[in-house]
Amino acid sequence: MKILNWKEKINVHELDEVNKCLKSGGLVIFPTETVYGLGADARNSEAVNNIFKAKGRANDNPLIVHLDSKSNISKYAEITNEIEEKLIDAFMPGPFTIILKKKDNIPSNVSAGLDTVGIRIPSNEIANTILYTSGIPIAAPSANVSGRPSGTNIDDIIQEFDGKVDYIIDGDNTDIGLESTVVKVIDNTPTILRPGFITAEDIMEVIGTVKVSDNIFKKVDGPVESPGMKYKHYAPEAKCELIYIHIENDLVNYFKEKSTNNTVIIGSSKLKDIPCKKFLNYGDSLISIAHNIFKLLRLADTYHPDLILIEGVSKEGLGLAIMNRLIRACSHNYIER
Ligand code: TXA
Ligand code: MG
Repeated sequence: MKILNWKEKINVHELDEVNKCLKSGGLVIFPTETVYGLGADARNSEAVNNIFKAKGRANDNPLIVHLDSKSNISKYAEITNEIEEKLIDAFMPGPFTIILKKKDNIPSNVSAGLDTVGIRIPSNEIANTILYTSGIPIAAPSANVSGRPSGTNIDDIIQEFDGKVDYIIDGDNTDIGLESTVVKVIDNTPTILRPGFITAEDIMEVIGTVKVSDNIFKKVDGPVESPGMKYKHYAPEAKCELIYIHIENDLVNYFKEKSTNNTVIIGSSKLKDIPCKKFLNYGDSLISIAHNIFKLLRLADTYHPDLILIEGVSKEGLGLAIMNRLIRACSHNYIER
């Protein structure tokens, strides 16, 4: 296994090695603007199987196929209506995945047997350069062991995948920090299956209608539109509680009452003076919370607390995606008032 440092600049000789590796069915971890991806040639079902193995991922949970440009979408999927076309035009490349009808050249293990496939065009330079120069459609889930927070920085990635893949490409911390918005057009309505950086409000503005899947905050079991929603995800080892209290004084008091010298607190600077084992500041804007949250969920465990208390946010705009991840990180141990 090789770790490549492309933080400053893409090394063209190494790029050649990476592309050859992908062509021959290897596994490569690469940065995107959302989170790191664990990729392989989407056309090679054996290579795709190795992604599921490396992640310990259930094989009924489909993968996203990454492409370099819109003009290549029709090679692997069918755009069947105008709304899909408009969404693609408005939000791709970027942190947006569209679920389309799958073509036969994408093997069925990529889509976990579904007749649809998630397509994403990353805007990150490293991801896009690999996709463009190799010409390979890359199937890639987030680079994390199944159930754990998604990988957004190289230390967390190396800790989980050292020796388990062929290449790890260091492109520094990912910009956004949360995975892409996953959207499927159902009955002519763009339906958000997983919220992300592209918000319901953004989609509303372009299409004039949008729906958020009921499942994003539910504990789900059995068949669902986006199978990823039914699995435990983003969870630290320690027990977590998520708290959203609108009135600041009440919020601070709640944390004061709950916190002990064995508690880690993850939240904004308004909680910084509360006595606890360790306070981890996730920042004071939704953008900085998104950027920091997965790393902090992992960091919290390194203090071996008996409880992690996490400050919630309002579920508007990017707040919806943040709360979707946090509620699941806490296994629905959540209070809101
Ligand atoms: O930002 C991202 O989307 C990252 C980067 C690497 O691109 N990828 C990512 O992949 O988050 P993953 O596998 O961790 O999450 C993919 C999500 C899962 O919830 C999965 O169930 C859903 O997309 N999904 C994939 N294909 C689908 C399909 N055909 N129908 C419905 N949901 C699908
Ligand atoms: Mg994931």
